[in-house]
Amino acid sequence: MSLASVHLRGIGGYLPERVMHNRDLEALVDTTDQWIVERTGISERHIIAPDQMTSDLAVAAAQVALADAGMTIDEIDALVVATTTPDFIFPSTATVVQAKLGGKDFPAWDIQAVCSGFVYGLAQVEGMMRAGMFRRVLLIGAEAMSRIVDWSDRGTCILFGDGAGAVVLEAGEPDDENGMVGSVLHADGAYRDLLKAKHPHTPSSPDRANHHQSADFQVDSAGSAAVEMKGNEVFRVAVAKLGGVVNEILEKYALQDADVDWLVPHQANIRIIQATAKKLKMDMGRVALTVARHGNTSSASVPLALYDLYQSGRLERGQLILLEAFAGGFAWGANLLRWSK
Ligand code: COA
Repeated sequence: MSLASVHLRGIGGYLPERVMHNRDLEALVDTTDQWIVERTGISERHIIAPDQMTSDLAVAAAQVALADAGMTIDEIDALVVATTTPDFIFPSTATVVQAKLGGKDFPAWDIQAVCSGFVYGLAQVEGMMRAGMFRRVLLIGAEAMSRIVDWSDRGTCILFGDGAGAVVLEAGEPDDENGMVGSVLHADGAYRDLLKAKHPHTPSSPDRANHHQSADFQVDSAGSAAVEMKGNEVFRVAVAKLGGVVNEILEKYALQDADVDWLVPHQANIRIIQATAKKLKMDMGRVALTVARHGNTSSASVPLALYDLYQSGRLERGQLILLEAFAGGFAWGANLLRWSK
């Protein structure tokens, strides 16, 4: 059996209306606009409205992607949402999105690989589609990171933003050379404590106020879930792993640095992006950049950056695009895609 090709037919993005500038952060924590811009490249980020949920951002991005593909939700065979900030512990945000879009019956599930969620999701869906499981898949990265940020921690709260990006993928003829080339994924849980957010039900310490214990069991009721990070250690490993994974994916598919037309990196920090571009000997003019305007939107950052590049009108059919991301876990990876719209 020859494997199907996988094509991106539609793309969309959504950013909540409220914009938080670095100056707004100066009022919250001991920081300056200059420090944030110099150390991260971020100037502003979007913040979800009190009456919005992650699923609402996802739905808005999905509607744009479906319209771009010229498809309706009834033509979709599967829906995947990559998110770290789901509406609920369960049901999955994907099922909430399915219902809000008016979809029925087709499978819908979430994927959790934090900031690498979209890159992981694209790899997973690509494999399933190549094998003939689904013909048309809606893949969304959606996050409300502002809901899990500790707004008193200047080392983390300056970094994150909210938003959603979505793509519609469609299986095509096996011999079509455009579309997905392939993916590479990695994880190393030895690094799990460098970047994390406890779940509200994660036990915190033996003397926690909301700790309940009997002779037979102990439980914790609600606690707080806030991002904790050893920033400079994360930075160091991110630069090394991303440099490695972009080389690895090119080698795997027998391609060279010079074959890559566009780099669409995870938008965590401009200095990490510059280091990866340097590794690929790529001019920054060929790198999709949204970090200044969006901050780090976790699993939404790569599809939002790709959407931004698409909207700029610079993508051409047949061009080779390298997507990459690095995340808590650590989990990291890359995808190669030949633009076929
Ligand atoms: N404003 C002003 N000063 C700040 C600050 C802020 N918002 N945040 C930290 N600082 C201070 C620190 O307290 C420290 O002060 P000290 O030297 O007096 O102790 C100093 O700046 C340097 O801190 P450090 O953490 O070493 O800075 P850095 O250059 O590594 O930059 C990050 C911090 C968070 C911007 C950077 O480490 C980073 O981007 N890391 C990767 C984060 C990331 O990508 N996470 C997501 C991966 S998916």
